[in-house]
Order: sequence, then C-alpha cells, then structure tokens
Amino acid sequence: MAKVNAGILGTGHSYPKGILTNADLEKIVDTSDEWITTRTGIKQRRKAGPDEYTSQFAVRASREAIERAGVDASEIDLILCATVTPDQILPSTACLIQAQLGSHNASAMDIVAACSGFLYGLSLADAMIRAGQSKYTLVIGAEILTRYVDYTDRSTCVLFGDGAGAALLGPVESDRGILAVKIRSDGRYEEHLYAPGGGTKGGFSAETIARGDHFFKMKGNEVFKVAIRSMTDISQEVLDDAGLTTEDVNLFIPHQANQRITDAVASKLNVDSSLVYSNIAMHGNTSSASIPIGLDECVESGRVRKGDVILMASFGGGVTWGAVVMRW
Ligand code: ACO
Repeated sequence: MAKVNAGILGTGHSYPKGILTNADLEKIVDTSDEWITTRTGIKQRRKAGPDEYTSQFAVRASREAIERAGVDASEIDLILCATVTPDQILPSTACLIQAQLGSHNASAMDIVAACSGFLYGLSLADAMIRAGQSKYTLVIGAEILTRYVDYTDRSTCVLFGDGAGAALLGPVESDRGILAVKIRSDGRYEEHLYAPGGGTKGGFSAETIARGDHFFKMKGNEVFKVAIRSMTDISQEVLDDAGLTTEDVNLFIPHQANQRITDAVASKLNVDSSLVYSNIAMHGNTSSASIPIGLDECVESGRVRKGDVILMASFGGGVTWGAVVMRW
C-alpha cells in the first residue's frame, strides 16, 4: 500500500448563543474589565444555558466538518471526543455524539487531556490512519467549562468559556497532512489545575457540593510559567522532526489560554505576530475546543490556503501538552 499521511478533510465549530462580558463579571466578582483585558486579553466568553449540554455543540461542529469533507457519517470508523466536561459520566460523550450523527460503524471514546485533548486526538488519529486501522476519523474538542467554574473565585471565573470544534481526518498524500506530532504529560503537576470532587477519591455528597469541590481550582501563576516553557519546547521539537523551521510556518494556532502566554510563546519561537491566530478576546479559554475552533475560523475566513504549514500547540491540566505541524 502507498505511504499515506493523515490529513484534515473538513472542519466545523459551534458556540452557545449566550455571552458573558467582562462588564457582566464586574457585577458578580471583585474584578474589572481593565484587569481582565490587560492580564488575559479576554473581553467576553460564550456561556451555555442551563438546558444546553456538551454533545449538542459537538454534534453541530461535527456535522459541519463531515459535510465539508464530503464524507457520509456512516463511513466514519472512529470518533474521538476530547472533553473534561462530558454530558454524563457514562457512557462517553463520543458515544452520545456517534448516535446523534448516525455513525453506526464507528468506534467511539473520550479523551481526557484538558486543553491538549484535541492535539492528543490528532495524534491518535494520525497513528490509526497511517497504520490502516481507520480511514475516516472524527476528532472533536467540546466543552461547557462554565458549569465547572466557581463564580465566587475571580482568579478562574474570568478565564473560561464554552464551545466545540471538530475535524474529520482521512488519508492524504504523504507530503501533506500531519507532518509531525508529539504529546506529553506530567501528573506530578496534578494540583496546577484540578477538580477534586465527583470522582471515587473525592466523592460526591451534599458536603462536597457545598464546598465547591467539583469546581476547577488553579495555580494560575504556576500554569502560566509551565505553559510557556512546554509549548515553546514541544513546538520546536515537532518542527525539527518535520525538518522545518519557524520561517516555514504560515499560521500558528496556539491554545487560547491567555494572550500573554500566546505572545510569549510566539516571541520565543520567533513567529511573527501576523502569523499567530488569536480569538481569545471573543471566546476566552474553551480548553480542548480552542484549537479546532480557531482552525475552523481560519478556514472559514480564507486564512488557510492549500500548501500552508500550520503549527498548533497546547498546554492543559494534568499537566498535558502537545504540538502538531501539518501541511494543508
Ligand atoms: N480581577 C482582579 N484581580 C484579580 C483577578 C481578577 N479576575 N484575578 C486575580 N486577581 C488579583 C490577585 O488576587 C492578585 O492580587 P494580589 O497581588 O493583591 O494578591 C493579583 O491580581 C495578581 O494575581 P496573579 O495570579 O499574580 O495574576 P497573573 O498576572 O498571574 O494573572 C492569570 C492571573 C490570568 C490566571 C494568569 O496567571 C494565567 O493566565 N495563568 C494561566 C492560566 C491558564 O491558562 N489556565 C488554563 C490552563 S488550560 C486548561 O487545561 C483548561
């Protein structure tokens, strides 16, 4: 069989309609538009309504990606849904998405790797497609983070938003698609970003809920430092693996966590700011959804052209990190 790469054949994204602005947050916690804007770059974020749930946005994003790829949902072999905010504990959100899409021939599973989840998914899809184990693989990043945000904690509640992005991958010629990918984790940094309640260790009871154990807790400063170092290093590693340099990069889509993290990583890598995608002002940090949403926004606006080299890098709770370089 001829050597193939895994390439992205179609992308899509979806957001809830509800918007939470910095002005809205000023009424909830002791913060200001000025602080949030200068420290994070965020102006607003999307917030799902009480009747909305993660798979709804994942399905909308996926339908768009599948249609643009020109593939029938029944042809999909594997569905990977990256999420830390699943519809429910069991079954996986990926299985719920599979049923709604009618992809009855696919196997389906969730990936729990926080903000790096989508790049973890691309890494698995790449291996499965190149090994001939899967032809069409749907990779989704979908989150309703605002459900797990403590709106009395100003250091976390200003950061996170909701949304979903999806990419349908399939075999492409070996000079296109994913050229190099790397994923990493280090569980020793568990407490940089975590939610202790709701599992078999922390349990769930009226007391754990009253204490807010199910909400995200974060050491923002620590995350900040590790994020810059790890995203920079792993981006350089995938470029080296692909035999490329940052001069070859036409578009850099970093995980949207904080504009200052994005600027620092781009500057360390020496990627010109005009080549760096940012939508953090409008959407905040949507965790695993942020890179596929950014990618689809770039596709929709014509910012990605055939042959372009795209670099993507992420960092998240776990801690996890990863990078992908691909030729469109
Ligand atoms: N409004 C006003 N003041 C605030 C706010 C707020 N929303 N939040 C914190 N402050 C205050 C702090 O209390 C502190 O006050 P003090 O000096 O009187 O103690 C001061 O601002 C400075 O706080 P720092 O935490 O040092 O502020 P910093 O510049 O580091 O910014 C931030 C904090 C935005 C959280 C930053 O550290 C960051 O972005 N870290 C990365 C977080 C991240 O990306 N997490 C997601 C990882 S991805 C995933 O897996 C979901």
